[in-house]
Amino acid sequence: MSLESEIRALKESRNAVLLAHNYQRPEVQDLADDVGDSLYLARRARETDRPVIVFAGVRFMAETAKILNPGKTVLLPDPKAGCGLADAVTAEQVRTWKSEHPGAAVVAYVNTSAEVKAEADYCCTSSNAVKVVEGVPAGQEILFLPDMFLGDYVRRRTGRAMHLWVGDCPVHAKLRPEALARARAAHPAAPVIAHPECGCASQVLPQVDRVLSTDGMVRFAEETHDPEVIVATEVGILHRMRRLNPGTNFEPLDAGAICPYMKEIDLGDLRDSLAELRYEIDVPPATALRARRALERMVAT
Ligand code: 13P
Ligand code: SF4
Repeated sequence: MSLESEIRALKESRNAVLLAHNYQRPEVQDLADDVGDSLYLARRARETDRPVIVFAGVRFMAETAKILNPGKTVLLPDPKAGCGLADAVTAEQVRTWKSEHPGAAVVAYVNTSAEVKAEADYCCTSSNAVKVVEGVPAGQEILFLPDMFLGDYVRRRTGRAMHLWVGDCPVHAKLRPEALARARAAHPAAPVIAHPECGCASQVLPQVDRVLSTDGMVRFAEETHDPEVIVATEVGILHRMRRLNPGTNFEPLDAGAICPYMKEIDLGDLRDSLAELRYEIDVPPATALRARRALERMVAT
């Protein structure tokens, strides 16, 4: 039996749903029941009636699934699948920051640990960060964490006074204005679509055609009639774009933009995860209870 057939059979016998992020390896995406961005996958995890959720993504996504659906078994097939951005802030640091700004609303990007989410009033993803911040009562001070580039983008879009945590994604922070200028010169007619985590956002993002979450990029790819599009994000997303629209040439802004955490899970890990029900995500109930309020606001926005 092929590894793929083994995984399909195990998925069936475990009555499991396999959710995969847009940056996952192509072969993992191809086996998934659903592929999407952080917000879409959080909503799917919340809705599923299957008892087991296998999360082919990174830890904060699997934790989010567990917090939103505590009765389910949530598996992260490789425990090394972390996130450099989520590591940029600890719950202790958030508590200190809050004590310096009494009364401020804490808006945490979903790329954070469960402990950090427990300190937050709101969570958001790249696809609804602007709407979430617009929903914070007018006049209330905002502490936004941990991605300063996304935060800067949201601050410009909303005009809200926001304090930004100085953190970034090690993959997107490298996508800078110089690379954009080179791509523009090489492909003058091609639109550029960019993820809001891109480095030096204040210079990059005003120059691009669209700022989008990964699912926003996939929808753009499906609908475009442009012969060529420049894609400023992690390269794993190109698999889905090229399959959905073979008539367009999707060029990465930087072919080296590869998230090592997103590539940890391979087919062998998926098979072992389903066979041995590992590695089970466990969020302490007190932390989950506090984090759920901010996450429920996120999925409702
Ligand atoms: P999306 O929510 O846009 O999929 O982004 C997740 C992520 O980790 C980007 O680096
Ligand atoms: Fe985290 Fe960046 Fe990887 Fe996204 S691309 S999972 S933010 S390290």
